[in-house]
Amino acid sequence: MDEGPYAIVIGMMGAGKTRVGREMASMLGLPFADADIEIEKRIGCTISEFFASDGEPAFRDVERDLIDDFLGSFGGVFALGGGAPMTPAVQDSLRGYVDGGGKLVYLMADPAEAMERANRGGGRPMLDGDANARWKALYDVRHPVYAELANVVVRTHGMTPQMAAKRMIDMT
Ligand code: S3P
Repeated sequence: MDEGPYAIVIGMMGAGKTRVGREMASMLGLPFADADIEIEKRIGCTISEFFASDGEPAFRDVERDLIDDFLGSFGGVFALGGGAPMTPAVQDSLRGYVDGGGKLVYLMADPAEAMERANRGGGRPMLDGDANARWKALYDVRHPVYAELANVVVRTHGMTPQMAAKRMIDMT
C-alpha cells in the first residue's frame, strides 16, 4: 500500500474498534483516527445531535465523504463507525482499498459483550428504543457484509484490548 491507511478497522458498535485501534496504532508508532470523532469535528456537534437535526441519510453522506478523504490522505490506523460499511459508496471505496493491498480488519467481539458495551457507552442514535434488540437486528444484517468485505478477521473474545491489538498486528 503506497498511500492510504495502514489498516482500517470495521465492526459492530461496542466491538472496541476505537479502543483496540488506538492501541494498535500506539504499538506501531502510527497515528490513529476515529471516523466518528473526525465527523463530529466536521459537523460541529455530536452525532446524536446531527441525527436529530439532519437525519441519518445526511449523516451517511458526511461519513462517506470523510472516509474518502481519509482513504486518500491518512497513513495510520483508521476506525470506522459500525454503519459505514453498509453505505454502497463506502463499500466501493473499501473494496478498492483492499484491492490496492490495504488491510481491512473486521474486529469481531463476543456479541453479548459488544452489545453491553454499546449500551453502556450511550450517545448512539442507532440504538434508540430497545437497544439490545436494535443491536442484534443490526448485527444480523451487518455481520455478513463485514465478513465479506474484510480481508482480516480478528475475534477478541476473552482478550484485553492490548491482546486484541497485538493479534491485529500479527495478522496484518
Ligand atoms: C453507527 C455507529 C456509530 C456512529 C453512529 C452510527 C452505526 O459508531 O457512527 O452512531 O450505524 O452503527 P460506532 O460503531 O463507533 O459506535
